[in-house]
Amino acid sequence: MGRTIQELMRRACEAGTAIPGFNIPYLQMMEPVVRALRDTQCFGLIMAARLEWVKFAAGGPREVFETYQRFKDERYTRLHLDHVPVIDEDLHRVDFVADLGLAISLGYDSVMVDGSRLPLEENIRATKTIVDMAHAQGVAVEGELGAVMGHESGPMPPYEELFASGKGFTDPDEARRFVAETGVDWLSVAVGSVHGAITEGTRREKKIEARLSIERIDAIRKTTQVPLVLHGGTGIRKEYVIEAIRHGIAKINVATAIRQPYEALMEQSTEKALDAVYDAAVRVIREDLELEGSAAVIFP
Ligand code: 13P
Repeated sequence: MGRTIQELMRRACEAGTAIPGFNIPYLQMMEPVVRALRDTQCFGLIMAARLEWVKFAAGGPREVFETYQRFKDERYTRLHLDHVPVIDEDLHRVDFVADLGLAISLGYDSVMVDGSRLPLEENIRATKTIVDMAHAQGVAVEGELGAVMGHESGPMPPYEELFASGKGFTDPDEARRFVAETGVDWLSVAVGSVHGAITEGTRREKKIEARLSIERIDAIRKTTQVPLVLHGGTGIRKEYVIEAIRHGIAKINVATAIRQPYEALMEQSTEKALDAVYDAAVRVIREDLELEGSAAVIFP
């Protein structure tokens, strides 16, 4: 059971499969997600991002960690701290070193520092600070380069325009430099996906069906040689996701697909809401991502 997440991600990447990461905005959602992973024999990550304790009810890095200790199943799960931004979705500066330092000292398996709203040089500098801290404790680090939109409060540019122009997509040459200079273990890339909306007024909206640029994934993979991460994993057209996994996407983040069914029922019945989370997680693993049974490949 002692395999590190670094090894498991590498194996997923080499085997042409992927590790889903499920976001937990309400701590109660963790148990049915772990159960869904176990029942489908899929290896996955339990994750919380900073916005999940600021805008939802995940408590904080410590509460997430403690809840994880109760429900974890190390045959099928590891714990990841998702998006701790340097500048958040409302354009406020964040004490990212404090949040990430806490997670690293608590014993998270991996963390994400998100400097994607910074100019390249500053993103490199901020990310490298966290890589140095995390690697000293054996903790893996994900960085982000490019703009995966959707979490911001303002209106999004029309999706088709965004996709056709490739505006905000990760640049392969910048990615080469970013990975070489920061030493990140994995890179989150902007290749066509968008995050599900999270503001009070929009969080119940159905997500658009995103597409992905497989050519861009290939190009980034060639220049960086590290496992790539796809954010905004809910609602991407299936043929694109399956192809992206074959081309080097080794981790896929999923939040909206399990949060919305929970929120639709949580005021009515906690039990029903949690059943809906389980069903949604199983559906994502089995149908949307076709990752049922992946633990046997990643973790033989
Ligand atoms: P979705 O809400 O689109 O599933 O995206 C989740 C995500 O990328 C969290 O980091």
